[in-house]
Amino acid sequence: MSAKIIDGKAIANDIRAEVARGVEKLKRERGVTPGLATVLVGDNPASHKYVSMKRKACAEAGIESYHYELPKTVAPEEVLALVRKLGADRGVHGILVQLPLPFDDRPVLEAVPLSKDVDGFHPLNIGALAMKGREPDFAPCTPAGVIELLDRSGTRIAGADAVVLGRSNIVGMPVALLLVARDATVTVCHSKTRSIEEVCRRADILVAAIGRARFVKGSWVKPGATVIDVGTNMIEDPKATGGKRLVGDVDFEAASQVAGRITPVPGGVGPMTIAMLLRNTLRSAERS
Ligand SMILES: NC(=O)c1ccc[n+]([C@@H]2O[C@H](COP(=O)([O-])OP(=O)(O)OC[C@H]3O[C@@H](n4cnc5c(N)ncnc54)[C@H](OP(=O)(O)O)[C@@H]3O)[C@@H](O)[C@H]2O)c1
Repeated sequence: MSAKIIDGKAIANDIRAEVARGVEKLKRERGVTPGLATVLVGDNPASHKYVSMKRKACAEAGIESYHYELPKTVAPEEVLALVRKLGADRGVHGILVQLPLPFDDRPVLEAVPLSKDVDGFHPLNIGALAMKGREPDFAPCTPAGVIELLDRSGTRIAGADAVVLGRSNIVGMPVALLLVARDATVTVCHSKTRSIEEVCRRADILVAAIGRARFVKGSWVKPGATVIDVGTNMIEDPKATGGKRLVGDVDFEAASQVAGRITPVPGGVGPMTIAMLLRNTLRSAERS
């Protein structure tokens, strides 16, 4: 069998176009321009790259972005004061504090008002995800992107046996909670899980988010399953430009022979994160 490839780039582009139309409508009907504030501390090149991609995506969708860059020597209290100021600013509908911070991020993340927590990392938003009958103001972007890929690829979630590899706060655990909320039966695996391949073989939906290159073998995949690969790992490849290549947590070549649907890396989950951030920002502005 050869799996259908889930094209995350095309799906993300569809969502970005939907957001742009929503932004246009909001401006036209209510005179409100959605605004996203980005707070970047220090000189981590990857963080700079992510924030500039997010700002570019905002501009393309008609969302105003307000950017704040602070040196890595900044006092945590100063960052807290900035986040509180942005929290009170009516032109700002979403606040994104780029992680990692060079100090404990908890007080800063907790200072973001729930109504502007478009990254969905506030503990109360995560807590609401875990409670039956409650909905968070915003779901975290990458996990929400995973659910969107399942929905838009025609994968049935309700009643499915789902296995999530990884239990991090930013990916694995929120993905598992979102799947439970959608009536899947979910098993969460981590570094202490025994017989992980057997657990994986039971999965109608397999989500890999562990950060280990090609960890999931083709023989671990249930025939016809939907495989969502969140992992991003650089491996040596003398044939690639620069001698390195990006791969996921799944052995794509082997798994795509067995799965029914599968995301590639790159071009699967990656583009969804920014698309969901834009959508959360628009939703926040619509609610304002
Ligand atoms: N937009 C995107 O595409 C996007 C966004 C975020 C992350 N990512 C990628 O997703 C991956 C996971 O990110 P993360 O932030 O969730 O990573 P993380 O915080 O390092 O968490 C990794 C999780 O995987 C588990 N794990 C590690 N080795 C394992 C093994 N051998 N067997 C089973 N479980 C194992 C860990 O278990 P323990 O809890 O027991 O330690 C942990 O729960 C990374 O490759 C990251 O780059 C992609």
